[in-house]
Amino acid sequence: MQPPEPLWSAELNTCGPESTQELAARIGSSLRAGDLLLLTGELGAGKTTFTQGLGAGLGVREGIISPTFVLSRIHPSLTGGPDLVHVDAYRLSGIDELEDLDLEQGMDRSVTVIEWGAGKAEQLSDSRLEVTLTRESGSTMSGSGEPLQLDFSESEDDEPRTITVAAFGPAWMDRRLF
Ligand SMILES: Nc1ncnc2c1ncn2[C@@H]1O[C@H](COP(=O)(O)OP(=O)(O)OP(=O)(O)O)[C@@H](O)[C@H]1O
Ligand SMILES: [Mg+2]
Repeated sequence: MQPPEPLWSAELNTCGPESTQELAARIGSSLRAGDLLLLTGELGAGKTTFTQGLGAGLGVREGIISPTFVLSRIHPSLTGGPDLVHVDAYRLSGIDELEDLDLEQGMDRSVTVIEWGAGKAEQLSDSRLEVTLTRESGSTMSGSGEPLQLDFSESEDDEPRTITVAAFGPAWMDRRLF
């Protein structure tokens, strides 16, 4: 199933976890209750790191960690804004198991972020931001070359990432973040 064209999209580059968090915080400060974000990227690409920045920008309680074993965590707002619901769908097979989490109940008053949500969680809302984090292949510039993403080492702390943000659905018709 091919996704439709986004209403708008942006491609950004970050040079380390802090700059990914700064970018995400900028996005987070513009989000509203009801927004849904689906995060895509290989293991260790920075989805949870991005979500931490998003939480800072939203002003929710800290302590965002990988929810892999919990599936879903709620981070309450400290500022009277929307809460952040952080989901890891890695182990979920699809929309049926996602619906078992009863996310929809609170979605109207929360920002919902779902790691590994693409292809599984689109039906939760008629609008979404798709965020894709891509690891660069070390010394070579990104471009048309073959994907050389074989280095999964966790030790390097500052690596470039390409982050694309693409908006789908009526909620983003009159809202542009970039
Ligand atoms: N530019 C960058 N942006 C984000 N993270 C980076 C960057 N450069 C290095 N890192 C490091 O990459 C790792 C990203 O881990 P993180 O848990 O956020 O990934 P993830 O995509 O959530 O992984 P998983 O699929 O296991 O949930 C962290 O150790 C972080 O410090
Ligand atoms: Mg993660």
